[in-house]
Amino acid sequence: VQTKTVGDTLRAEVGDDRLLISRSPAMRRVWQTIERTAPTDVSVLLTGATGTGKELVARVIHKQSLRAGRDFVAIDCTALSPMLLESELFGHERGAFTGADRERAGMFQLADGGTLFLDEIANFSLDAQAKLLRILQEREFRRVGGRRLIRTDFRLISATNVDLAECVRAGTFRGDLYHRLKVSHLELPTLAERREDIPLLASYFIDRKRLRLNRPWVCRMSHQACDVLTAYDWPGNVRELENVIEAAILECPRDTIEASHLALTRRMPGTAGTAEPLAPYREARQQALVTFERFYLMALLHQFHGRIRPIAAHAGVTPKHIRTLLRRHHISRRDFRTPHVRRAPLRADGTAS
Ligand SMILES: Nc1ncnc2c1ncn2[C@@H]1O[C@H](COP(=O)(O)OP(=O)(O)O)[C@@H](O)[C@H]1O
Ligand SMILES: [Mg+2]
Repeated sequence: VQTKTVGDTLRAEVGDDRLLISRSPAMRRVWQTIERTAPTDVSVLLTGATGTGKELVARVIHKQSLRAGRDFVAIDCTALSPMLLESELFGHERGAFTGADRERAGMFQLADGGTLFLDEIANFSLDAQAKLLRILQEREFRRVGGRRLIRTDFRLISATNVDLAECVRAGTFRGDLYHRLKVSHLELPTLAERREDIPLLASYFIDRKRLRLNRPWVCRMSHQACDVLTAYDWPGNVRELENVIEAAILECPRDTIEASHLALTRRMPGTAGTAEPLAPYREARQQALVTFERFYLMALLHQFHGRIRPIAAHAGVTPKHIRTLLRRHHISRRDFRTPHVRRAPLRADGTAS
């Protein structure tokens, strides 16, 4: 599987009919690192806020690696108590503890030849960290309650949404393990840092979900809905966008998703009470200004179909200033150029129809 470029859109197949898709400059660095590290066996650490696509990127790396034919074994370290985590990872022999009535292969063994994805790695206890470090050094381990050494060869990808360097300073995460995990380090930008991706992702989710949700007639969104999505702050990142689109599809009686179908959890910026009511004055004012800038810019982009010169002339600033604002707000003027492109669902080849 390779990364495909269609126009300025980058896409890679993940399996189960899922894609990693983006067109923002902020994600370009991510793609370069994926392409550089995927064919190697180096450990990759993925950091970024929840919902930014860490697990998806891990799957793409696996798909584009020489291990693609073998398993991608994912384990979420938040859900498990230290005892369960250990038996989950290492497996256990029969009778190793009460309830262990048969032997069990752990994730380290199941991932042999493939890729092991440890999600929310910061939740590893110091004890588990020590054991993981040993395995990474020696490539062999014993099951819980077992004496036999089992060899394993997996590629490790780990992910976290907390600052591991800070955990190392605080003494809750081992520095030596940290350095082993992040031979290659990939930080995923938040969705607010790549608003150019919002219309693209929204169209992609509409296209992917409408049939599955049994709403085949829903196939586009209005300009207004698209603007609301683009201006929103997305604390839950791409996962939140996915959920909002899903809910909107279910709400939508006709072919076009309208702004009124969007159930955003935070108050919309730009409406009365932009800032948190109790934020300090300067902070609240700053927030309101930033939001104003974004909406002002989008209104002119609409009016002049994304053409910089007339926008600048109308606003009474230089074209350079407009370009700076576009960059600062991560808004793509291409989305405003031809009124139809951004509303249409994606065709199978990934271009807009
Ligand atoms: N760039 C992207 N293109 C397509 N889907 C994405 C993208 N980023 C995230 N998603 C989707 O958003 C959801 C959250 O992504 P996930 O990888 O689970 O995030 P994280 O592990 O960082 O919390 C998933 O359904 C994923 O498929
Ligand atoms: Mg995750």
